[in-house]
Amino acid sequence: MTDPRNFYAEVGGAPVFDKLVSRFYEEVARDDVLLPLYPEQDLGPAEVRLRMFLEQYWGGPRTYSDQRGHPRLRMRHHPFKIGPIERDAWLRCMRIAVDEAGFDDAHRDQIWEYMTYAAASMQNSDF
Ligand code: HEM
Repeated sequence: MTDPRNFYAEVGGAPVFDKLVSRFYEEVARDDVLLPLYPEQDLGPAEVRLRMFLEQYWGGPRTYSDQRGHPRLRMRHHPFKIGPIERDAWLRCMRIAVDEAGFDDAHRDQIWEYMTYAAASMQNSDF
């Protein structure tokens, strides 16, 4: 398994993360569970934040922390009720994005495993 610090470069860097996150937000924009959670009408800024975070986590530029400080993602998700339905909706959108990003099988499995783990850890409600 790739060290997450090398993943970004190995898969092709910025264009790949761009494609991944923009495809994810295309799905969010038409998801009846997720869309109402977003405080801003314009999903553009949220897309930029998720892209910067994922780039940083996987060994790319550290712009997320430069702009947003420590991620504290559980805390930042606290205002939104995230139960099994929201978690599964998020993973449905992400599955499409991951499948279409053009990863080889090993990198796809690695990032997918992370996404399922991260989505479960963001859950803050049992219903
Ligand atoms: C922000 C929903 C899981 C990363 C947000 C926001 C919402 C949201 C509504 C606010 C949008 C904004 O930035 O203005 C959800 C739901 C999830 C989920 C329903 C279901 C499990 C995740 C996961 C990750 C993640 C698994 C990381 C792998 C982020 C990041 C931000 C964010 C980086 C921006 C934080 C900031 O700097 O303010 N999410 N999220 N989210 N989410 Fe999630």
